[in-house]
Amino acid sequence: MSYNLLKGKKGIIFGALNEMSIAWKVAELAVEEGAEIVLTNTPVSIRMGTIDELAKKCNAHVIAADATNPEDLENLYKESMELLGGPVDFILHSIGMSPNVRKGNSYDELNYEYLKKTLDVSAISFHKVIQKAKEMDVVAEYGSIVALSYAAAQRTMYEYNDMADAKAMLESIARSFGYIYGREKSVRVNTISQSPTMTTAGSGVKGFDKLIDFSERMSPLGNASAQECANYCITLFSDLTRKVTMQNLFHDGGFSNMGMSYRAMQQYNKSFDEKCDCK
Ligand SMILES: NC(=O)c1ccc[n+]([C@@H]2O[C@H](COP(=O)([O-])OP(=O)(O)OC[C@H]3O[C@@H](n4cnc5c(N)ncnc54)[C@H](O)[C@@H]3O)[C@@H](O)[C@H]2O)c1
Repeated sequence: MSYNLLKGKKGIIFGALNEMSIAWKVAELAVEEGAEIVLTNTPVSIRMGTIDELAKKCNAHVIAADATNPEDLENLYKESMELLGGPVDFILHSIGMSPNVRKGNSYDELNYEYLKKTLDVSAISFHKVIQKAKEMDVVAEYGSIVALSYAAAQRTMYEYNDMADAKAMLESIARSFGYIYGREKSVRVNTISQSPTMTTAGSGVKGFDKLIDFSERMSPLGNASAQECANYCITLFSDLTRKVTMQNLFHDGGFSNMGMSYRAMQQYNKSFDEKCDCK
């Protein structure tokens, strides 16, 4: 059912790789809610993924851009404003990648060149996306910019590795830039801290299926799905949240405020049958 929450609005969506991507669900729902959108991803992800299928479905153009490259962003914004006929009302940053995670380097044996790449792609790109948008006046008054984060920004999660540092930085950028962009142009900047979700990026984390199971047991409402994340994104793009800015908003079924749940304890108790000497 559509509520027409984005009727007449325009947006740019970064990060739809395939139909498991959170950005894919957001794009579909944004269009269903009345928005006109431009889709973007890196040239290699456009080639390897299925974004063209999504573009067809959403009647949207795809413009290639590496979000770490300000020239690409400039071109993306210029073309998007031409295609959409003016400034946009929302931007979704749904981007993450860690070469250390990919190569299986543990947090106490990080490759620092890879760490720089993790931070550039997963956090600093958010700053670049916002800075270029502000410079070119890409976002209309009371427009909304959202990035996706994870609870490892606040609490240590086994094997989340240097992505935890990237997410802490991402959330900080939302606060720091949210202040400036809000004060000068009335543009909102927030992050959504989403439950673990089975996507291409998510499943790169070691033991991800167990993490999903653990957080499902720990959350009174269960894990939030990619589709539910899209629902939440749409509310943040809509006019119903015009005074929400500089926030990290947990969308995790209650996980972030739990210590131990009955369901997780039941499962944990089973492990006492076997001796565990792990640290
Ligand atoms: N899946 C989860 O469990 C989960 C949980 C919380 C937050 N998130 C966050 O959600 C966001 C989307 O991830 P996803 O889970 O949908 O996985 P995904 O793999 O579908 O999306 C990640 C996207 O980042 C894009 N990307 C990588 N480098 C880029 C660059 N230089 N420029 C532009 N785009 C680039 C990829 O092409 C891909 O489309 C990420 O920020 C991720 O950290 C995911």
